[in-house]
Amino acid sequence: MLPRPACQTRPPERAPAQYAVGVDDLWTLVRFGHVLGVTLWLGGMIVMGAVVVPVARAAGDRALITRAARRFGALGGVAWVLILVTGFGLIDNRGLSVADLPDSEYGQRVLAKLVLMIAMGVIVALHAAWQGPRVSRAQEAGDEESARRWQILGAVFDSALLLGSLVALWLAVSLVP
Ligand code: HEM
Repeated sequence: MLPRPACQTRPPERAPAQYAVGVDDLWTLVRFGHVLGVTLWLGGMIVMGAVVVPVARAAGDRALITRAARRFGALGGVAWVLILVTGFGLIDNRGLSVADLPDSEYGQRVLAKLVLMIAMGVIVALHAAWQGPRVSRAQEAGDEESARRWQILGAVFDSALLLGSLVALWLAVSLVP
């Protein structure tokens, strides 16, 4: 087997004693919560885009898309909070604070994930409170052209969310050798 290259993104070393079983169990739970949040956030997004929306469109049932999007919106909100809260916990578990993050490559990658997560939260809020209702309003008014324009903006938001989540996942899996 080839020797592993030195890792540039390694977190600060911790003494083995800090991995005592009880503490390890608690942090395993926090990490579990973090990864569970990620599966809900990213998995839900993929299922919506690749399964729910095409199936509802093929059935000509637009109301189903709205209902599913509302339901996933609630789940996605929980996932967003879970990822952030457990993410801060994991930063603390590495013996770091948010202020330390710019000082190492490891921290810079975690900081990039944090910035992405906040930016994605802003996009979701715009999607739910501004763009989405404009589509419904234009459709109710029978203004198909403007509904289409708002839908295109929605597709741009969805693409940005998927891309942002994939970049965050890439950054995450590069953190630990
Ligand atoms: C969609 C956004 C995110 C994704 C996809 C993501 C994904 C992940 C994954 C899969 C891991 C486990 C890596 C491993 O143990 O091999 C992880 C760990 C971690 N995440 Fe995230 N995460 C996201 C957002 C965040 C945010 C916002 C923060 C900070 C508030 C954060 C901080 C951390 C930390 C500190 C670790 C521990 C890394 C280590 O063990 O040193 N993550 N993340």
